[in-house]
Amino acid sequence: MSSELQRTHHCGELTDKDIDKQVTLCGWIHTRRDHGGLIFVDLWDKYGMTQVVLNPQIDQLAHEHAQSIRGNYVIGVVGKVRARPDDMVNSKLKTGKIEVYVDELSILNKSETPPISPWEPQDTSEALRLKYRFLDLRGPELQRNLKIRYDITRTARNELHRHGFMEVETPMLTKSTPEGARDYLVPSRLNPQKFYALPQSPQLFKQILMVSGMDKYFQIVKCFRDEDLRQDRQPEFTQIDIEMSFGNEKILFQMIEEMMAAIYKEVLNEEIKTPFPILKYQDAIDRFGTDKPDMRIDMEIVDLAEIVRGTKFKVFAQVLESGGQIRALNIKNSADSLSRKALDDLTEIAKTYGAKGMAWIKVQENELQSPIIKFFEQEMLDKMLEKLGSKPGDTVVFIADTPKIVADALAHLRLAIAKLLKLVDESKNAFIWVTEFPLVEYDEAEKRHTAMHHPFTAPREEDMDKFESDPGAIKARAYDLVLNGNEIGGGSIRIHQKEVQEKMFKLLGIGKEEAEAKFGFLLDALQYGAPPHCGIAMGLDRVAMLLTGADSIRDVIAFPKTQKATCLMTQAPSEVDKKQLRELKLKADLS
Ligand code: AMO
Ligand code: AMP
Repeated sequence: MSSELQRTHHCGELTDKDIDKQVTLCGWIHTRRDHGGLIFVDLWDKYGMTQVVLNPQIDQLAHEHAQSIRGNYVIGVVGKVRARPDDMVNSKLKTGKIEVYVDELSILNKSETPPISPWEPQDTSEALRLKYRFLDLRGPELQRNLKIRYDITRTARNELHRHGFMEVETPMLTKSTPEGARDYLVPSRLNPQKFYALPQSPQLFKQILMVSGMDKYFQIVKCFRDEDLRQDRQPEFTQIDIEMSFGNEKILFQMIEEMMAAIYKEVLNEEIKTPFPILKYQDAIDRFGTDKPDMRIDMEIVDLAEIVRGTKFKVFAQVLESGGQIRALNIKNSADSLSRKALDDLTEIAKTYGAKGMAWIKVQENELQSPIIKFFEQEMLDKMLEKLGSKPGDTVVFIADTPKIVADALAHLRLAIAKLLKLVDESKNAFIWVTEFPLVEYDEAEKRHTAMHHPFTAPREEDMDKFESDPGAIKARAYDLVLNGNEIGGGSIRIHQKEVQEKMFKLLGIGKEEAEAKFGFLLDALQYGAPPHCGIAMGLDRVAMLLTGADSIRDVIAFPKTQKATCLMTQAPSEVDKKQLRELKLKADLS
C-alpha cells in the first residue's frame, strides 16, 4: 500500500460530520495504548491529532504491524470513521468525537527512541533541545511560533505589495556595511587575501536602488552581525527592510502603522490603536532613562536636583557639585510590599549599572522611614515628596550620579520594580515612535564622534550650520519603533546630497580616502540624481517574539544559535580541511 498511499485528510480534520467515511491518514505515532488486543494510537501531524484503533484480529499483516509499532514511527492507515462511545469523547480535541477503525496499516518509517520527547520538549535542557532541534520543532510551542512568524511575514509582504513596494534581493557576499557591529568575513578563493563581508543590513544597496529609480523597495532579508548576544539578539537575524523615494516621516510612519495593524489583526485578531504616539529621544531619556521605554508601566523619573541643592547629605551634595544628577522614582502603594531584602536587591541591580548606591524613603501615614531622612530638613523633604507626587504607602528610590549612570540605573530599576510588583499591564500593546536622536555621540575612548544610527542618516535642516560649531547638538531625522520596551525597528531620512554626505564623513573622522575605499560606490551614486529617500528596517525576530509571547528570539527561529554563536545541531562553526585553507591561501593559527 505504501507506494500509493495518498492521504485523504490530515490529522486535525475529521469530525462527527465524517462518520462512516473511508479515509486515509498519515502521521507520527504520538502515543500508543494497548488495551488487551485493541491498540489505540494518537496519530499526529502538524494539523492535529486523531485517535485510530487497530484491531489485530482484522488481518494478519495489521496484527504484526500493530504489535511492532512504537512512538514516533511514521505510519499510514486506511480505515473508517466512527463515533467514539459517549464516555470516550474528548471535547478538547477538534477530532475528539470520532476515531478511525483501521483496515490497513503501513509502516512508512521506524524511529529510534528519541533523546527528547518531541511533544513535551520543555522537560529537557535547552542545549539538548537545540541539538535535537528537528524533534524540538515537532512540539506545539515551536509549531505555533513558526506559524505565527510565517503569518507575520505573509501579512507584511501583502501589505507592502498593497502599498506598491517591490521585493528586490541584494547580495550576501558584499563589502562591509556601516551598522557598527563586527563583520562576518568570507575569504575569496579567486582573490587571495581578499574578503567579502556578510551584510549587517542591505543599507547601501537599498539606497542605491532609490538612485536607480526603484521608488519603493522591500526585502525580507538575513543580516549578520558579530556582536555580543542576548535574549533579543542573534548573529544572523531577519529584517523586513524598507526604503522609499520622496517620502518623509509622516508617510513612512503611517505605512508602518498600517502594516503593524494588519499583522495584529491577521495573527492575533486584535485591533491596535494608531497613530502611535511620538516621543522625542531626550524626553524618553529624561522620563524613562532609556530610548526604548516600556510605556505600559505607569512610573516616570523625577528630577530633584533643584530641590536638593544645598543639602547636607554628602552623597547628593558631591554629585551636584561635580555636575551630576539626582533623580528618583515614586513607586505607588509599595511601602508594605517592598521588604528590606527587596530594597537591597534593587540596590544591587542599580549597582550593576554603575550606581554607587540607591537611597530610598518609605512614605508612611505619619512618618517617613529611610536611612537618609536624618540628613534632610523637613521643608526639603516636603518639596521632594510633593514633586514626586508621593502619598502614604508609596516608596521613593533615588540615584545620584552622572547623567548616564542615573538614566541607566533608573531605567533598569523601573523595569525590575514593575516586574517584581506586577505593574505591567500585559493586555496592552504600547507602541511608540522615538524621534530626534542626536546625530552623533562622542566616543571618549576613541576621542571621536560616531554616528548614533548610521553615517547615512540626514541631520535636521535647521541644524546644518552646527557641523563645526556644535555637532553634539545636531538632531538626526532618525526614528525607532518601540513596542513594550523592545526596539522593533529603526530607520531614518537619508542624506541624498554628496556634499552633506562628505560633511558627515568629515565629522565622523572618516577621511576622503577611507570614504572612497569603503563607500565610494555610494558617493558615486549620489552624484547621478539621487532622489530624497528614507527607510526603516523592522526586526522580524523581535516582532515574532512579542506576538508569540516568547521569552527569547531563539524561540521564533527554526535553527537558532547559542549565546556563543554556535549551532548545536550542525556543530557550526567547525574546523575545515587543510586543503580548503590552502586553496584560500589562509592559515588557521594566527593567534
Ligand atoms: P538597525 O541596526 O536599527 O537598523 O536594525 C533594525 C532592527 O533590526 C533588529 N535587530 C536585531 N534583531 C535581532 N538580532 C540582532 N542582532 C539585531 N540587530 C538589530 C532590531 C532593529 O530595530 N539599516 C538600518 C535600518 C535603516 O536605517 O533603514 C538598520 O539595520 O529590531
Ligand atoms: P551612606 O551614607 O554611604 O551609608 O549612604 C546612605 C544611603 O545613600 C544608603 O542608602 C546608600 O545606598 C545611598 N546612596 C549611596 N550612594 C548613592 C548614590 N550615588 N545615589 C543614591 N543613593 C546613594
